[in-house]
Amino acid sequence: MACSENSDTALSSTVMPQYTDVAVWPLAQYHNKLNPAMNESMPILTFKGQTYSCEPGETVLGCLLRHQQAIPHGCLAGVCQSCCLQSHRVPTERLVEAQQGLSEAQCRNGEFLACQLPADHSLEVSLPAQKPWHTATLARSEQLSDTVWRLEFDSSLRWQPGQYFSLSLNGIDTRCYSAALPASQGPLVFHIQRHPEGRLSDALCRLSAGDTLQLQGPFGDFRLLEDSTPRRLLLIGSGTGLAPLLAIAGAATEDDQYDNIVLLRCARGKTGLYESPELSRLINKGIHIETALWDDNDSLESTLRALAPLRGDHVYLSGSARFVQQFERRCFMHGASRSDIHKEMFLDFSQTTA
Ligand code: FES
Repeated sequence: MACSENSDTALSSTVMPQYTDVAVWPLAQYHNKLNPAMNESMPILTFKGQTYSCEPGETVLGCLLRHQQAIPHGCLAGVCQSCCLQSHRVPTERLVEAQQGLSEAQCRNGEFLACQLPADHSLEVSLPAQKPWHTATLARSEQLSDTVWRLEFDSSLRWQPGQYFSLSLNGIDTRCYSAALPASQGPLVFHIQRHPEGRLSDALCRLSAGDTLQLQGPFGDFRLLEDSTPRRLLLIGSGTGLAPLLAIAGAATEDDQYDNIVLLRCARGKTGLYESPELSRLINKGIHIETALWDDNDSLESTLRALAPLRGDHVYLSGSARFVQQFERRCFMHGASRSDIHKEMFLDFSQTTA
């Protein structure tokens, strides 16, 4: 049940501003006095000057969504960062678990992932100042495999190879997708894995040229690092996790820093592999491409053994958390330094309704 000030006839809109400025706990206690039925220990969320009761076991995001508040959200698993909120009135140690993956600046700013913070204390929250949403028009849609689509947008936005954008059709449901081309080499391209039961991916794959969507970004620190020492660049990705690596490889071909670029594309089975114009472009540039099935231990090991030793290589891993963790261990065992291994982990949406 909402316990917003609007729903309480004892509080008129003319006096509301003075209550929105008081501390969170006094506001909750004031409410409890007005509404004796309200459990005094019930945590209260304050958002945009309204207050909302929390139910046991729910998160801050869950509470606000239950009260029909329009909070952007996506994975519900602490990965996509689309549910970021901000609070200045909470001890920082309470936020730590809900700040995994956020930048230092965001943490200093009191930002946290609302899907990861239990709503077990009263709290005043707000939407952080966000990058603006842009409307983008689809120039071309192409089906690359049974489950993967390529969407190409004409856009004046700039991004670093490896970065990602939040995509949305309604400003509420969002998903993050990495650009598959460097901004210097062409349009804004995303590879979308379609999940038939998904809320957004299915709708994205049904878009036609001329349709529009909202996008926000770019975001992310997973990008080509500058280094004066010539090195080998080893890029290992699975499924559509390959997209940011295609952009990084494209940018690396313009950079003398890398005298040898190897792209290892992996899939759980042969049907998980897909071709794309971005991959063809790299093949035409002479990049060394390897393919491996990552559930086939022998095939993987022989591929990595042929590339070893990896000492001194810059290694970029992109895919599901399980994939990235497995390859981080394998690359380390074959000589890569942990400080030279860069990781981008995606939620495995095959287990969800993405
Ligand atoms: S919805 Fe919270 S991180 Fe994705």
